[in-house]
Order: sequence, then C-alpha cells, then structure tokens
Amino acid sequence: MKSVIITGAGSGLGKELALLFAGQGFHIILTGRTLEKLQSVEQEIHEAGGSAQSYTVDITQTKDISKLMTQLQNHELYGLINNAGVGHFGPVNSLSAHDIQEMFETNTLGTIYMTQAVLPLLKEKNEGLLMNIISTAGLKGKVNESVYVASKFAVRGFTESLQKELENTNIKVKAVYMGGMDTPFWDENDHIKDKSMLRSPKAVAAMILDHIEEDSIVIESKK
Ligand SMILES: NC(=O)c1ccc[n+]([C@@H]2O[C@H](COP(=O)([O-])OP(=O)(O)OC[C@H]3O[C@@H](n4cnc5c(N)ncnc54)[C@H](OP(=O)(O)O)[C@@H]3O)[C@@H](O)[C@H]2O)c1
Repeated sequence: MKSVIITGAGSGLGKELALLFAGQGFHIILTGRTLEKLQSVEQEIHEAGGSAQSYTVDITQTKDISKLMTQLQNHELYGLINNAGVGHFGPVNSLSAHDIQEMFETNTLGTIYMTQAVLPLLKEKNEGLLMNIISTAGLKGKVNESVYVASKFAVRGFTESLQKELENTNIKVKAVYMGGMDTPFWDENDHIKDKSMLRSPKAVAAMILDHIEEDSIVIESKK
C-alpha cells in the first residue's frame, strides 16, 4: 500500500486531507507534535475503513525527522504533504524574535527539511507527490502579515524551483495557495474577527483534490 506523509495532520486542513487521501486508498502517516490529536484522526480513518498511523514529529527538529524516516523504512512511500504551519500577526514591530523564528522554522525550514528527507526515496522509484500547502500569503503582501507572508513567499520560491528541478521526473510537485479557512490556526490570535466567513478546511481539501492535476492550485477566499 502506498503511503503519504502529512505534516500537521491532527487538525484543520491536514486532518481533512488525511481523511480524503485515506479514502483514495493511501496509507496515511499522520505527523504533528500532539499525539492525541493525531490518534483521534487515525481512529476516524480506521472507522471509515482506511489505513493510518500516528507519529510525533516536530518538523523544526531534524532529529525527529530522521527518527521518522527510520521508522518508515519498510513503507512504500509515495507522497509528502507539507501542511504544518503557524502564524503570528500584527504590525512588524509587534512580532517577537520568537514569533519570527517560529514562523520561518516551521513554515519554511520544516518544509525544506521534510522534503530533503523524503525526496531521495521518491527519486529511487521515480514516482511520487510533493504537495506544499502555502497560502494566498505566498502570492501577495498583506497588512499585519509581513513575516508570515515572507515565510510563505519562501516556500513558493522553494516549490517553484523544485518543479523545475524535478520536471523530467515522475515526481509531481504541487503548490497550493488558499485564502482563509475556519481552523484552529486562528485560535491564538485576533487577526480574523469572524471565522464563520471563511471556507471550511473540508471544502478546501475537496477543492485541492478536484484540481490535483494542476501544478499551482489557487483557491481564493470566499467573497
Ligand atoms: N487557516 C487559514 O486561514 C489558512 C489559510 C491559508 C493557508 N493556511 C496554511 O494551511 C496550513 C494548515 O493550517 P490550518 O489552517 O489547518 O491550521 P491548524 O489547524 O492550526 O493546523 C496546523 C497544524 O500544524 C501542526 N504544527 C504546528 N507546528 C508544527 C511543528 N513544528 N511540527 C509539526 N507540526 C506542527 C499543528 O499541530 P501541533 O501543534 O500538534 O504540532 C497543527 O495541527 C498551514 O501551513 C497554514 O499556514 C491556513
């Protein structure tokens, strides 16, 4: 059974993508920092007749990633969905060094470390899927989102470059740019006042699968 790793799979979009990819017959490797959230998604997948397993991985820690890759040695690895991300919002001077580092270490470096770990295995088979969940923040600057946007522009540059680096292979590299979603992402800040105006992560996950053949998937915010 082909396996797909999803980072940040315990909530929001990662969870919904996990449920959908499991429904397509993939074994889902659910990763994130909080085991309970992953195990709850794992249970939902099992109840729906799918296959999944949970692994605690902090993508900012290369030792966690190395340990995961050792644990997955017997898997037929097909895909990686770099979905985990964090956001801190406000005027640029309101952001602490910790906020800035956390966004770059998670959104940008975590995505790069995970890709470096998985890509050699996809290359061995000359087949696979690398999907980077970016944001419309990877396409244009936004008020009170300067560093978040910077971290996502970096992922866009990384993704577009990998598309070129791998264009003569059967490894598909996808960039996904979506607008706001109603997820726990907004729980720790007051940047979005009314989450009910946002798309559900379930709807966005379904739209991603509908457009899976496109290299660059853009899902604008609901108007
Ligand atoms: N919500 C939006 O409006 C929106 C819009 C556009 C793009 N996005 C992007 O969509 C992606 C998914 O976000 P979401 O909205 O679904 O938010 P979410 O529910 O908060 O999901 C993010 C997940 O990332 C995990 N995570 C955070 N830091 C991590 C780390 N260092 N290592 C491993 N996992 C980590 C979190 O779990 P743990 O804390 O348990 O690790 C969480 O489950 C993010 O990349 C985000 O930037 C979101």
